[in-house]
This record gives sequence, C-alpha cells and structure tokens, in this order.
Amino acid sequence: MGRVIVITSGKGGTGKTTTVAAVSSCLAALGHKTLAVDCDAGLRNLDVSLGMSEFAVTDVSDVTEGRLCVQDAAREHPQIPKLFFISAPARRSPSELDADAMAAMFGEARESFEFVIADSPAGLGVGFTRAAAGADGAVVVSLGDKASVRGAERTVETLRGMGISDSRLLINRFDRQAARRLGVTADDVIDLAGARLIGIVRENAAVAMAAVAETPLVLYARGGAARDFLDAARRLRGEDLPI
Ligand SMILES: Nc1ncnc2c1ncn2[C@@H]1O[C@H](COP(=O)(O)OP(=O)(O)OP(=O)(O)O)[C@@H](O)[C@H]1O
Ligand SMILES: [Mg+2]
Repeated sequence: MGRVIVITSGKGGTGKTTTVAAVSSCLAALGHKTLAVDCDAGLRNLDVSLGMSEFAVTDVSDVTEGRLCVQDAAREHPQIPKLFFISAPARRSPSELDADAMAAMFGEARESFEFVIADSPAGLGVGFTRAAAGADGAVVVSLGDKASVRGAERTVETLRGMGISDSRLLINRFDRQAARRLGVTADDVIDLAGARLIGIVRENAAVAMAAVAETPLVLYARGGAARDFLDAARRLRGEDLPI
C-alpha cells in the first residue's frame, strides 16, 4: 500500500511544483514506483518541470470522470524509469473536479504506486482541498520570509482540521547569508510554522535553468538544490539523515 503525500503551501510561488517534480524524480531514482499528480487545474505546469509536456494528453479528469483508470491515465517518464505522471486538466477550474472522485483516484493510485505525490495549487481554497483529498501526509513548502511562514502555519492547521496530522516542513530557496543578515534562522521558521522539518533547499540558479530546459532537476544538476531535494526524498522514505 503506497503513501499519498500532498505538496502544498499557503502562499503561491514557494516552489511546490518544483518540489513535486524533484522529489518524485528522486524517489523513482531511488527505486520506488512513484506517481506525480498535477492537481493545479487550469494552471498546470508540473508537466514542464518534469520535462513531460508532450505526455500531458490524459489528465486527472479522465480518472475522476471514469474514462480511464489510474494505470491507463499515468504516463511513464522517458528517462526516469518508475516515475509516472498524470497531468491536471488544462481547461477546468478546481471546483469542476469532484471531491469524492479525487479521493477515490488517490485511493486507487495507492494500490499500484509506492508514493503518490500531489501538486497543490496556491492558497487554501477548493483546489487545495481537492489535492489534499485522501492524503496520508503533507509537505508544506515555505520560504524564509514572514508572510510565507505564516501561510505555512495556516496550512498546517488547516490540514490538521482535515485529519491530516503528518505535515512536514520544507524550507525552500534558503540563502544562508541573507538569513544571517536578517537575523533569521531555520529554527525560527520551524517554530513559527509548527511542523517537523523534512529539508532545507538552497536558493540555486540551476532550478530555473532546469525549468527553462524542461529537464528534471535531478537530470540537470547533481549538487546544490538537486542534492537538497534528494536528501528530502530520502527522509520522506524514512531515512534518518541529519539536516
Ligand atoms: N530552490 C530554488 N532556487 C531557485 N529558484 C527556485 C527554487 N525553487 C523554486 N524556484 C523558482 O521559483 C519559481 C516558483 O516555483 P514553483 O512554480 O515551483 O512554485 P509554486 O509554489 O508551484 O507556484 P504556484 O503557487 O504558482 O503553483 C520558479 O521560477 C522556480 O524556478
Ligand atoms: Mg505550482
């Protein structure tokens, strides 16, 4: 039985889609059959981050509306074996995806994949609740700034209210020097957000360059943020790595 993990954040633009693409690629590279699901209906872009734009021919609505089963809707990555992907519908709003059908889709996915990683839209609205439907746990992505941390805190609380208490915090785009100048430490962020840390990912130009090249970060670079995401993926599968 696999685990369904939603990647989310209160604020937009914190790096959710980047995290889904990087962590699911790493989990597959570590040997786990992994499904990345784009739940950002209408604003999808996980296909680009995964380098799978031409595979976005089927989508979540094909499953939720009963046209395809999860196995048939999922497309395998051309270069990363064991990594599968289902796109979000391009021309639907999140409210057009039925909540129960989303939960059923994740339940079905749990049967055939070890990890199911869902990309949530920004905010805590209907798209978020659809993406989190039936999740076993969450990774809340936050930047180091106050607005983002406050969004993460609200997200952790909202998830708890939905019965998802296993939330882990990922601090993204961390710039040690800037943080030192501002007097902010990773511990401050963790305390404010109220969740255990799963990783700290550094600010790294390779992330944007991989996105422009439409290549998964793990195939584009080895060190830097790619390394940080690999460590986060290893912690997600239960390894006890120091941060
Ligand atoms: N560690 C990093 N270093 C440098 N740039 C990064 C890093 N993580 C993400 N980015 C950049 O930040 C931008 C936003 O990332 P991304 O699209 O993953 O965020 P998001 O949370 O999914 O946004 P949205 O809320 O709109 O869905 C992108 O341009 C991405 O390349
Ligand atoms: Mg996104």
